[in-house]
Amino acid sequence: MAKKVVLVATVKPFAPEAVEGIKKLAEQAGYEFRLLEKYQDQNELIQAVKDVNALIVRSDKVTKEVIDAAPNLEIIVRAGAGYDNIDIQYAKEKGIVVMNTPGQNANAVAELAIGMMIYMARNKFNGKPGTELKGKTLGLLAFGNVARNVARIAKGIGMDIYAYDAFVPKEVIEQAGVKPVNSQEELFEKCQYVSLHLPLTEQTRKSIGYDLIIRMPKNATLVNTARAEIINEPELLKVFEERDDFKYLSDIKPVDEQTLKTLEEKFAGRFFFTPKKMGAQTREANINAGLAAIRQIIDYFEKGITRFQVNK
Ligand code: 3PG
Repeated sequence: MAKKVVLVATVKPFAPEAVEGIKKLAEQAGYEFRLLEKYQDQNELIQAVKDVNALIVRSDKVTKEVIDAAPNLEIIVRAGAGYDNIDIQYAKEKGIVVMNTPGQNANAVAELAIGMMIYMARNKFNGKPGTELKGKTLGLLAFGNVARNVARIAKGIGMDIYAYDAFVPKEVIEQAGVKPVNSQEELFEKCQYVSLHLPLTEQTRKSIGYDLIIRMPKNATLVNTARAEIINEPELLKVFEERDDFKYLSDIKPVDEQTLKTLEEKFAGRFFFTPKKMGAQTREANINAGLAAIRQIIDYFEKGITRFQVNK
C-alpha cells in the first residue's frame, strides 16, 4: 500500500521545533512528510495538495478549489482553534474529516490579550503615567479556552472578572472564579475592559457594534484577539467619534482598509494592532498545536478516532 502523505502548509510558518516534531511523528508512523511554508500564492497550495492524504494548516484558506485539487485528501487539521478558514461543509460533502486542536494555543493568545491591555494602560510604554489593571472590571465575551486562560491570568493581576457565554453553563463560569452575567449587553455595561473570544460564524459576523460598545463604562478598552470580521467597523468608528475615552486593541487589522486609515488619521494613540496576527505565534503554542495535529491525524488513520472533528 502507498505511503500516506502528510502536508504541512502554512503561510505563517510554525517554529522550527514544531515542524521537526511533526515530521518525526509522521515518519515514525510510516507516512511521507512534506512542507510548504511562506507561500505567496494560493496556487502553490493548490499544486501542493494534489496527492496528499492529510493536510495541516493554520489560518490558511482551504477553499473548494483546494479541496477539489486534492482527490486523495482524507483529513484536514487546523492546528489552532478557529476553522472559519476552511470550507468544512464542502469537505464533508467530499468525505473529508476536518478537525481543530482546541486549547493548544490558548495560553499564547491569552498572554497577548493581557499584554496588549498592559501596553495600552501604560500608554504604549512612552514614559507618561498610566493606569493599572488591578481592580478594574474585565468582561470575557464567550468562555472557551482562550477566555479561561485570560481569566486565570487576570485573576493573578487582581481584576474583577465577568463572562457571558450563551453555550456554557453558569456553574462552569463560576467554578473558574468568574462572575457570569445574563447577556452581552450586561457584560459591556459592567466592564471597562471587554475581551472578545467569539468564533467567527454567520451569527457573530459584525455582531460587535455601536449598541454594545457604547454601553461600556468610562475609560473603556475593547480587546480583540478573535477575528476582525466580528466587528462592525463603521459602528466601531462611530464609537471612536463619540467617545474620546474609548480604546481598541486588536491582534488583527480591520477588514476594511478605510477603517484603518480613518483610525490613523483621526484617532491616533487610541488603538493598537499587531503587525500580523500573532496571538498564537509562540514556540510553545506552535509545538502544542502542531504536535496535536499530527497525533490526531495518526489516531484517525490508525484507529479511526474523530474526537476533534468539527464537520460531523
Ligand atoms: C486560532 O484560531 O487558533 C488563532 O487565531 C491562531 O491562528 P494562527 O494559527 O493563524 O496564528
